[in-house]
Amino acid sequence: MALQQLSSQSAIVGTEEHDQEAIDELIASLPQWKGVFRPFQSLYQNFWCPTYALPNVIAFQRHFQAKHKDIVLASQPKSGTTWLMALVFSVVNRSRFSISNTPLLTSNPHDLVPSFEFQQFGRNPRPDLDGMAELRLFATHIPYPSLPECVKQSDCRIIYICRNPLDAVVSSWHFYLETARSKEQPEWSLEEHFEIYCQGKISFGPFWNQMMGYWKESLERPYKVLFLKYEDLKEDIVGQLKKVAEFVGLPFTEEEEEGRMIEEIAKMCSLKTLKDLEVNKSGKLQGMNIKVENRSFFRKGEVGDWVNHLTPSMVNRLNSIIQEKMSPFGLEFKTC
Ligand code: A3P
Repeated sequence: MALQQLSSQSAIVGTEEHDQEAIDELIASLPQWKGVFRPFQSLYQNFWCPTYALPNVIAFQRHFQAKHKDIVLASQPKSGTTWLMALVFSVVNRSRFSISNTPLLTSNPHDLVPSFEFQQFGRNPRPDLDGMAELRLFATHIPYPSLPECVKQSDCRIIYICRNPLDAVVSSWHFYLETARSKEQPEWSLEEHFEIYCQGKISFGPFWNQMMGYWKESLERPYKVLFLKYEDLKEDIVGQLKKVAEFVGLPFTEEEEEGRMIEEIAKMCSLKTLKDLEVNKSGKLQGMNIKVENRSFFRKGEVGDWVNHLTPSMVNRLNSIIQEKMSPFGLEFKTC
């Protein structure tokens, strides 16, 4: 298969053996840079992808078959993905599990809503996903234009969570730092991390392209993409949970509201509750080809922590990116 065809935005088709060679050739041909805690990131379809995950991304693009009821949770890393996973899992499965027996008590949210590119297609290029209980929940950091056509064209829904970039860059620095420490790799200064972030080279970036792709789609097809903001969840979790439940076609009933089910879900999925669970203090993510500690997904969870880390010139630089790339299209952020 021609490299051009593989790297285009179109669906990838071809035979298995022939393709492995083409995929290896493609990866070797892509621009690369030495990434943060994995050696390389590759520029694939206009986004920076951890090179080790690229075969998984390609397998996902080639082999995934969407079902109309699927729900895909999408995000830029460190935007509240874990929180969204816990919330949507709880909303969708509330008739199967009560708070006292929810699988969240014993599994990290990433294991309940596995990602396409790290877990599902990382284990196996052709995972058997047909047996999964419906509604099937998946997660991804892949930008909207690179999602398979079946995800875009079917009735499956996408919920995107976005976070103000000032807090997101600080959060991602802490995450990489922790990961580097656990692997006994050299530490990485905030200045270096910030520079790479602003250059758009953090995984699945440039962040502005990733956010804008989902933002624009949510404006054009609001029934297809629900665009949430971390800051809004912090401000009004009950209102946002109702929005999520309606979007996935499972609105809370009056009885559920009166029984304070929404508040119970919010409490179960709060940072404090999840962070204190044994599984999230000591476990590791399942089915990943790199080691990731569950606890690394839970830190402070505040809006405005950037004031403790970023210098005025860093703030100005990020604000200029936001003003240039996002504000003209109506995407604004609360930062404190
Ligand atoms: P901080 O590093 O600012 O604390 P992701 O899940 O996309 O990796 O994002 C991780 C960020 O979300 C971290 O932010 C983490 O603390 C925060 N977070 C994780 N679970 C949360 C929850 N239940 N409620 C609020 N924030 C949460």
